[in-house]
This record gives sequence, structure tokens and C-alpha cells, in this order.
Amino acid sequence: MAALTLHHHSCLHSSTHLSRRLYHPKLSIFPRSLVKNLIFRLNPSESSSFSLSPRGAAVAVRALCTEESREKKMVKGIRVYEHGGPEVLKWEDVEVGEPKDGEIRVKNKAIGLNFIDVYYRKGVYKAASMPFTPGMEAVGEVVAVGPGLTGRQIGDLVAYAGNPMGAYAEEQILPADKVVPVPSSIDPIVAASIMLKGMTAQFLLRRCFKVERGHTILVHAAAGGVGSLLCQWANALGAIVIGTVSTNEKAAQAKEDGCHHVIMYKNEDFVSRVNDITSGTGVDVVYDSVGKDTFKGSLACLKTRGYMVSFGQSSGSPDPIPLSDLAPKSLFLTRPSMMHYNETRDELLECVGEVFANVAAGILKARVNHKYPLSRVADAHADLENRITSGSVVLLP
Ligand SMILES: NC(=O)c1ccc[n+]([C@@H]2O[C@H](COP(=O)([O-])OP(=O)(O)OC[C@H]3O[C@@H](n4cnc5c(N)ncnc54)[C@H](OP(=O)(O)O)[C@@H]3O)[C@@H](O)[C@H]2O)c1
Repeated sequence: MAALTLHHHSCLHSSTHLSRRLYHPKLSIFPRSLVKNLIFRLNPSESSSFSLSPRGAAVAVRALCTEESREKKMVKGIRVYEHGGPEVLKWEDVEVGEPKDGEIRVKNKAIGLNFIDVYYRKGVYKAASMPFTPGMEAVGEVVAVGPGLTGRQIGDLVAYAGNPMGAYAEEQILPADKVVPVPSSIDPIVAASIMLKGMTAQFLLRRCFKVERGHTILVHAAAGGVGSLLCQWANALGAIVIGTVSTNEKAAQAKEDGCHHVIMYKNEDFVSRVNDITSGTGVDVVYDSVGKDTFKGSLACLKTRGYMVSFGQSSGSPDPIPLSDLAPKSLFLTRPSMMHYNETRDELLECVGEVFANVAAGILKARVNHKYPLSRVADAHADLENRITSGSVVLLP
């Protein structure tokens, strides 16, 4: 209130024309409630006998506006102040403002954990600002809508995946055009486990390289969040699916998910196994999210004119290769991102529509194999990075 005290001396006048002066046309931008609050806070006992000149009121009310805007709503969430290990994920009070034009405020019910969150935490990808709240996938209930917004109502159950970052919080502000309604047949936890990973499987199998009956495909980390869905969906499309995994438990899951051949790539040479399985022909496409440890072997697994889809780097970024490495088999190489395949609202709706339809039809089974309280997200990150998890990991606020 220091600024207001200053203006108190220079701008306040004893007057009975309180309301006329405060609601001077030039001051009409200030809400009535704010002006009442101002008078009360300047002098609670005499608020009825004090007034401001229009200019003084403008200055004083602006000061109060600034102060009020600082009094943002606080919720519990995660904040990262420096890049590093899981210990940099701090559980604290975070600000969540009021929704502006085109925005909504959502109270999260379930938050999806994705490997991209690890990249941002470590600084492999850079967040736009520091500190930041991670998280790129959540399902929740709309609790406030921005001025004039139509098409979204308080109480709606919505989901989003991708930008903006900030899902690791009890509540967050989202652009209304980034969320989609969650069908009532799909549980919020299931939706949070399948939105980003399912849309990734959709663009990889249906648009990046279009998998068809008879194709042979190689999926690395076949028991992971994305991997599990890739295998189920590709099998349903009629592909012959080869998957790599690190443990017997993951191998069993990958088989259940429709892998026709499972390779234990920690103990076996996956290139020679793929060569055997395909009788030396190679596969039509490799979906490689592991990166550094598998990239070169993946290229070797491809048939002539095969597609190398390098869509992640769980083991680190792949080493660069000369373009000439693609020449002996006329290979295609792409490094795609889901964000670029869902740039428009129509693309987003079509993509998520196919995912939700496949869940409803039983083609995709969400494997919510791990749930953690959001406050313990550091444990979830450690388990994901240490290859302990399989299927999807969901955080509960
Ligand atoms: N481009 C895109 O738009 C896009 C979108 C979504 C996800 N992604 C990528 O897809 C991948 C999968 O994401 P996800 O969230 O579903 O994770 P995830 O596959 O559930 O977890 C990563 C898995 O990678 C395997 N892995 C192999 N080497 C590893 C290593 N050195 N460190 C850690 N894991 C290793 C592990 O499976 P095994 O134990 O079986 O080896 C591990 O479980 C990530 O690389 C992610 O960046 C890309």
C-alpha cells in the first residue's frame, strides 16, 4: 500500500460527491467492486466521507489494480528452477491466473507423464522461461472460462496434449482451442494415459508412414507408453510387428499387445534377428524412439526404399550420419514431431477422434501400469529414465 499512501495525501479530497467522481467517464474502465475496495482500504472508518479527484482516482486505482493482479490464485504444482536430475522437480505453490480471452482454467484430474518431460527437465529441450512448470498432457474439469468465450462451459471434462507446457499443477490456464472434450465412456485417468501417446501412434502409423496390411515394421521400446499403442494399432492394421524390449516382463506385455516377434535387444543383436525374421529382406519402416543406442542398427534393418522414423531419443541423441549412408538402399529418413502433425484444430480433432474411437472399439487398450501422486513426480521421472516403467504413467494431483 506504499504507493497508495503517497497518493492519499496528494489526491484525496473530503467530499460527498464520492460516487459521481469515482465513476467519471474516463475512469469507467475500473470495475465498481475494485473502486469500493479501494475506498475501504484507504480508510475503512471514513470510507463514506472520502473521495478522489478523477485524476487522483485514476492513479490510485491503477496502483490497486497492480496490487490486485499480484494477488494471483495459488495452487500446488511443480516448478523447475535449474536443469538436472529428478531432484530439481520442486513441489510448491504456483500461480494460476484468471483465464483471458480465448482461455479456460482447468482443474486437473489426471496428468500424463511423457519422456519429453524428462528432456525439458534435463535441458535437452529448452523451456521458454525459467523457472517453469513441466507437463504436456492432462485431463480435467473446466472451472472458469475467459470473457466472451463460447463453446466451453464450467464443468466440461476436457483433455489436451502438447503445448502449452504446465500440466504438472492442480490447475492450469489453457487456450480453449487446444482442448478436446473427453467422451463420457472414457475414464479421465485412461484419457490422460492415452492422449499424447495415442495421438503419437496415430500420426506415426497413419500419416508419417502409412502402415498397411502386409507391411513388416520394427518398433523399439515396444512395451513403453507409445510403443505399446504402436504395436496394438499396427497389429490391427494388419502389419507384421517386430518389437524390441529389455526384460521378460516387457516381452510378455509386447506379445499381448500384438507383437509377432519380440527381440530382447539388451542381450540379442537386433539387426541379425530382424534379418533372420524377414529372411534378409528387411522391414518397411522402423519406429525408433530410443535414438543413440539403436539408430544405426535401425538403418541396417530397413529394406530398399524403407522408412527410418526417428521420433525420440530415450537413450540420447543419435550420432550424426552422412547423407550418403542413405544411398545404398535409397532410404527415407524423417525426424517427426506430433506437434507438426496436429497444427490445425481440424488435424487435432481428427487425430484424437481416431484415438478415442479405437479405445471405445477395444482396438487400443490403455495400459495404466503406474500411478504416482503429482507431489512424487520425481520418483516417476527416475523410474521412467531407469527403464523400470512399462505402458503409461499417470500423475494424480
Ligand atoms: N516425436 C514425437 O512427437 C513424440 C511424441 C511422443 C513421444 N515421443 C518419444 O517416444 C519415446 C517414448 O516415450 P514414452 O513417454 O512412451 O516413454 P517410454 O517408451 O514408456 O519409456 C522409454 C523406454 O525406452 C526404452 N529405453 C531404451 N534405452 C533407454 C535408455 N537408455 N533410457 C531410458 N529408456 C530407454 C525403455 O524400454 P526398454 O526397457 O524396453 O528398453 C524405456 O521404458 C520417447 O523417446 C519420446 O521422446 C516422441
